[in-house]
Amino acid sequence: MMLELRDICKTYIQGRMEVPVLRGISLSVEEGEYLAIMGPSGSGKTTLMNIIGCLDSPTSGEYLLEGENIAGLADGKMSDVRLHSIGFVFQSFYLLSRQSALDNVALPLLYAGVRRRERQDMARQALERVGLGDRTEFKPTQLSGGQCQRVAIARAIVNSPKILLADEPTGALDTRSGQQIMEIFQRLNDEGVTIVMITHEPEIAAHAKRTLHIRDGSLLDANGNPVSPLPEMEDPPQNPQGPGAPAQKGGAVEAAPQAERPGGPGQPGAAPYEGTVVDDLELLYWEDDGPDA
Ligand SMILES: Nc1ncnc2c1ncn2[C@@H]1O[C@H](COP(=O)(O)OP(=O)(O)OP(=O)(O)O)[C@@H](O)[C@H]1O
Ligand SMILES: [Mg+2]
Repeated sequence: MMLELRDICKTYIQGRMEVPVLRGISLSVEEGEYLAIMGPSGSGKTTLMNIIGCLDSPTSGEYLLEGENIAGLADGKMSDVRLHSIGFVFQSFYLLSRQSALDNVALPLLYAGVRRRERQDMARQALERVGLGDRTEFKPTQLSGGQCQRVAIARAIVNSPKILLADEPTGALDTRSGQQIMEIFQRLNDEGVTIVMITHEPEIAAHAKRTLHIRDGSLLDANGNPVSPLPEMEDPPQNPQGPGAPAQKGGAVEAAPQAERPGGPGQPGAAPYEGTVVDDLELLYWEDDGPDA
């Protein structure tokens, strides 16, 4: 099993209100799967992906990644997992606008302590895999949106991660560029990369081998009914602030600061990549202290 979520709940505290965003998600993903997760805006897709990507921790529940219990890991270990096991692709690319495609792709390797020469070779190979071998010296501003996303995919796969997580990877692209991205994903999946992709678009989800639907923080079964809701949710109170309302399991509720870690990327309405990314990338992908090189 590549990853397994058991009864994952995520509740944010907003002022004095508890906002349950994920309500008992259980989900297994096998090695080599290609899974799409669909759901309306605000249903918890990005929150779920941030947990799968070790960018955020659940309020309760268990998360096993290749059998390892992620919930128990310290932050440094979490960034280790991100660096070595997970590749991220976001709707708005998150490339460094002043760096060449090659340097953007090589960045995770810098954090991983790979030497310069090897970094450049590996980055060039990754760019070739996404059909951009002739654009290595181009900066994001000199590339089309589809090409930027392909650079982002090259960066996501340069470390040969086992899992590729994609949050609306075609959301900012025209149909044709989106199609190219889907072809690349298909090829990567054929090569054995496990893919979990979030999308609004049924035509995009159709490329995956399996599609799950999420609504109001619960996965839906084939009949469109929530799967394994919290006991409290089976008979939802009319007034969410009334008696019997969101008594979360075990009362385990986190304060908000941790929820802020993922910052802009992946959040609804996230800013475009240009000029916003350096800090975000460091938070998102890699060691908290940044590279020492
Ligand atoms: N840091 C946070 N603090 C409080 N509430 C949050 C936080 N992050 C997300 N939420 C809430 O969680 C809910 C789900 O957000 P999420 O980003 O997971 O939705 P989504 O399914 O990805 O939506 P979209 O399709 O628009 O990207 C939203 O109602 C949002 O307001
Ligand atoms: Mg989202």
